[in-house]
Amino acid sequence: MLSNIKGTKDILPEESRVWQAIEDRIRRICSLFNYEEIRTPIIEYQELFRKSAGEGSDVVSKEMYTFPDRSNEMLCLRPELTAPVARAVAQYTMLRARPTLRLWYQGPCFRYERPQLGRQRQFNQIGVECIGPIHPEADAEVIVLANDLIKACGVNTFQLEINTLGSSEVRKHYRELLVAFLSQHETQLSADSQRRLHSNPLRILDSKDEADKAITALAPKLTEVLDETSNNHFRQVLSILDACGVSYTVNPFLVRGLDYYSHTVFEFKTRELGAQDAIGGGGRYDNLFETLQAPPASGIGFGIGMERLVLLSSLAAEAKETSIDCAIVYDSPYVSRALLVASQVRQRGLSCTCDLQRRSFKAQLKEADKLNARYVIFIGKDEYDANTMTIKDMHNGSQKTFDYQLDSSYTILTT
Ligand code: HAM
Repeated sequence: MLSNIKGTKDILPEESRVWQAIEDRIRRICSLFNYEEIRTPIIEYQELFRKSAGEGSDVVSKEMYTFPDRSNEMLCLRPELTAPVARAVAQYTMLRARPTLRLWYQGPCFRYERPQLGRQRQFNQIGVECIGPIHPEADAEVIVLANDLIKACGVNTFQLEINTLGSSEVRKHYRELLVAFLSQHETQLSADSQRRLHSNPLRILDSKDEADKAITALAPKLTEVLDETSNNHFRQVLSILDACGVSYTVNPFLVRGLDYYSHTVFEFKTRELGAQDAIGGGGRYDNLFETLQAPPASGIGFGIGMERLVLLSSLAAEAKETSIDCAIVYDSPYVSRALLVASQVRQRGLSCTCDLQRRSFKAQLKEADKLNARYVIFIGKDEYDANTMTIKDMHNGSQKTFDYQLDSSYTILTT
């Protein structure tokens, strides 16, 4: 028998309910912040990510699912959504109508990584992008939103780490200083960091390898070469976060793995998922649109792994429980009557289910109990012959007989 592909996951109904509870919270928080949903395709031209995330990033160099289609166009399954959203914003000139675009999204992404707890090859991201504003208040709004969203999803212990990468000029200068320093210790660096030294040296700063950490602790810091404008921008972001009561730690080693970032970068971390310590992360991208050959625009956003939210959420236990408003328990010869009554109940906006296996009254009652039915409607021979039905309120045990044609004057069936 075939099974699902390694690194993918079937979300079965019990877990689906947890997802729905979390998705409801996400939608609510995004609309409270006046963010609107955008949906982009799962497949894109491979070039979009090579230009945006960068050839040196792990995502592009090692993890993308790329394939030629039947006309030999190089396509890929999207590894993230910031670049697709930027593409759509530029393609539909959305900034012309509105100087501040507040967008959110949710959907599957694909990265060929080694699967482990909280890490899959097909995973789902929820994210937001605030495109247009250049000022620190946009950075702060997005971080406050992420903070509120994670809390609303029932994740109670997490830490926010924040850093600035400065402008692209600052970063270029810093990159040279860093490569010069690390080159003196090249042979002591881990194999991964040796590989990154010339392709993506900033990533060495957040290496988890102990030998790398000992070397990077002595490396020049980006803050030492930060220009005044970048420094002011960062200080203002922090001061708004202070005013909004969002706690954070400045981590000078936080660099993030995608090339498009400049200025503010941040990550929400947890100690509860082993090696996968990031619940979500994001940052400002002031040059992304230009790298896509689109008219310049600034943006800031974040992405959060839905699977990680689900693993951490305290909503899970509650959401796993089922309940239904009404279950019909009937003698099988009266199936047509039972289905008619079920339709009438549903027309009143109540959920209702009927047995489809011609089971005994006892078995049907047991099932109704398992479903946590609030009401049970009985239709046996006596009820059928008298054109009635008996409705039992399972909360207080009271029951009453009614005409089977439910009319609006019956108040018993209210949620
Ligand atoms: P990212 O840090 O690559 O950023 O991914 C964001 C989040 O997606 C991670 O913190 C993690 O929760 C989740 N994630 C990433 N890879 C996997 C995986 N293999 N399995 C499960 N979850 C995963 C971005 O993607 C940026 N687009 C975020 C952003 C938006 N920056 C600005 N705007």
